[in-house]
Amino acid sequence: MSDRKKKSSLRKRKRPRVLGCLLIILLVPVIYYVLYALLYGPRTASPQLIAHRGGRATTPENTLAAFRNAIALGADWLEFDVQRTSDGVLVVIHDQTVDRTTNGTGRVVDQTYEHLLSLDAGQGEKIPAFKEVITLAKEAGVGILPEIKSPDLYPGIDAQVLAEIKDADYLEHTGIQSFDHDLLEAVLRLEPQARVCPLYGLWQLNLKNPQINSAKTLCPMGEMVVLNPWMIRQAHQQGRQVYVWFGVIERPLVMRLTLALGADGLMVDDPATLAGLLGR
Ligand code: G3P
Ligand code: CA
Repeated sequence: MSDRKKKSSLRKRKRPRVLGCLLIILLVPVIYYVLYALLYGPRTASPQLIAHRGGRATTPENTLAAFRNAIALGADWLEFDVQRTSDGVLVVIHDQTVDRTTNGTGRVVDQTYEHLLSLDAGQGEKIPAFKEVITLAKEAGVGILPEIKSPDLYPGIDAQVLAEIKDADYLEHTGIQSFDHDLLEAVLRLEPQARVCPLYGLWQLNLKNPQINSAKTLCPMGEMVVLNPWMIRQAHQQGRQVYVWFGVIERPLVMRLTLALGADGLMVDDPATLAGLLGR
């Protein structure tokens, strides 16, 4: 047999082995997840549908239109972000500036509430005041998960957020979120009955020893849960609930996976899809 023929038959013999190895590499994580879900299931009885930024997939984020849409879709909670104007009004907007989400420019902290009201936050919507969102949630009977953004920019924002929630008598239906866990500790010192929800980013793969011992709800990024599926069960063993939020992997398959891994709630941009998965 010529050298060329020998090499070609060798290549043909190697091909199935390479394909077999690839198949095993692909199947191992699948088997791992299926076994994990089977061993540690079943999923939480009634997972909470949480509209992230009100559910920005189809409506302008963090607006009353988004919140109303989420409520109509059966959301249990509204997730949103809180910043403060130059004249001390708490407003619901994600970024420190109005540039991305409105037709205006500049930092929220440098502008009055009256000026913010003149801006278009998308489809003619306004930037809502925190108080307006509490009122809407209360009327609809849904919970709220305000996230305190940029606390360094807004001295005393923890006490102010708490005061507005208590004024509306809505503490029982509120979870205050932040990546700044010291801020949440401060909230608990001000109001031990408050429910705080520490947020965790991708770099924090272990929730075993949360800094805030009394936190009953932990909010890890979905990407973390995929990399470390044990974290939800560990949190459950400590008597905590887990509400998962997503970075870039908010897909129906990943929603199903995190639910199978025991998530107590999912914060999603697309509440309609999750409502469908939950049969609402
Ligand atoms: O609440 C979790 C999530 O909202 C944090 O990310 O940037 O959407 O506020 P972000
Ligand atoms: Ca948020």
